[in-house]
Amino acid sequence: MSQTHDDSVYYSEYLQLHKILEAQFPESDKAGIEAHDEMLFIITHQAFELWFKQIMFELESVISLLSQKSVQENEVSTCVHRIHRMESILRMSMEQFTILETMSALDFMDFRDLLHPASGFQSVQFRVLEMRLGLTQEKRMNRSFLTAMKDFDKKLVQQAEGKTTLFEALQTWLEHTPFLETEEYLFWQEYKSAVSATYAKDRADIAEHAILTDEERIIRLQSIDQAESSFNSLFDEHTYMELI
Ligand code: HEM
Repeated sequence: MSQTHDDSVYYSEYLQLHKILEAQFPESDKAGIEAHDEMLFIITHQAFELWFKQIMFELESVISLLSQKSVQENEVSTCVHRIHRMESILRMSMEQFTILETMSALDFMDFRDLLHPASGFQSVQFRVLEMRLGLTQEKRMNRSFLTAMKDFDKKLVQQAEGKTTLFEALQTWLEHTPFLETEEYLFWQEYKSAVSATYAKDRADIAEHAILTDEERIIRLQSIDQAESSFNSLFDEHTYMELI
């Protein structure tokens, strides 16, 4: 075990544990009510919020990498790596509900009314995360969350408005990435002829198919026609908008 010197990095100081581990104040304690499970309820939410902070940290780095004028190959894999980390954190976070489910509804009722009107609905990081990913006010089902927030939190959410989102950064990067068109290579043209060749082969297979009855043959050929016409609409804005 290494000796501690005053200026050496020390575990609990480095992690500011005195702040984190002293940050749980059950309302039931204040009310003098025995509610053992409130501590679990508080720590689960705090753990979520810490992980929201980590996800946001990864997300901001990905947005800034993708928002550069030119994104280097290795930066693309950094983005993929960090998005994968975000996805792993979200998956693990959902697992945290299995721990919370060890709290029975009755145990929850011991302290639930003491928390009213507080709710995850007021989670600033959750809202900012939604916005930074690309959820705009217009696309929201329920826009009333701001009314449930105190002014200092409202300000934090409003600060996220108008910033480039992951959705926008990704779209701009895709539009700028020259893999669609080079002198020798026209992606859409190649793509169209490859798919048309597949349909042609399917038709030939059906025409030669020994077992199919005439009726079955007609039905299958019709469905290829349908699939091909909706595929071709990708290349014709008018038909495409009509289909939308
Ligand atoms: C016993 C456990 C929980 C119960 C009973 C519960 C209950 C609710 C309810 C009823 C809502 C709807 C809004 C409202 O009426 O206030 C809500 C929203 C929400 N809760 Fe929870 N919650 C629980 C645990 C959690 C945890 C652990 C988190 C993690 C941070 C969380 C985050 C959220 C968020 C972000 C919303 C807003 C969802 C949205 O509007 O899209 N909740 N919760």
